[in-house]
Amino acid sequence: MDPHTLHLLTSSFAALEPRLDELVARFYEQLFVNDPSLRPMFKGDLMVQTDALAKALRLVVSGLEDVDRILPILHGLGARHAGYGVEPAHYGLVRDTLLDAMAELAGEIWTDELGEAWTGALNLVAGAMLEGAELAA
Ligand code: HEM
Repeated sequence: MDPHTLHLLTSSFAALEPRLDELVARFYEQLFVNDPSLRPMFKGDLMVQTDALAKALRLVVSGLEDVDRILPILHGLGARHAGYGVEPAHYGLVRDTLLDAMAELAGEIWTDELGEAWTGALNLVAGAMLEGAELAA
């Protein structure tokens, strides 16, 4: 990842981090509006899940500089997701819903360039998770 994109991602994440729980809660709320059929896949407490996703996002951002370091974690995460019933097609909706929630919370600091940087980062994460799901299949 080039230094400029890395800077865009880390600095925008730092700006959003104080409200990360709010961001993730907003994401789930909107995800189930966008596709209500996904709701039954989430069997655990949504507060616990919110916490888990916030932690995963922190981990991803901290690992962007050297993605190979977090690859085994993303592979494991992707393999578990296949077990939750998650299919490759779901990743696009999750990415777009997360991007919308970020843009909403970031308000006027959000730019198209940030949107593109985050789209790339989330596609990278999804690609690694799907690879993990395939390796485990
Ligand atoms: C950006 C990609 C994603 C990340 C970083 C992520 C992260 C996580 C984390 C950290 C967990 C906690 C459990 C574990 O570690 O195995 C989890 C659970 C889960 N995720 Fe994801 N996830 C992603 C994409 C998706 C997608 C595309 C779906 C499809 C709808 C999905 C559905 C679920 C479900 C159903 C659970 C289990 C919830 C439960 O047991 O109640 N995730 N996710």
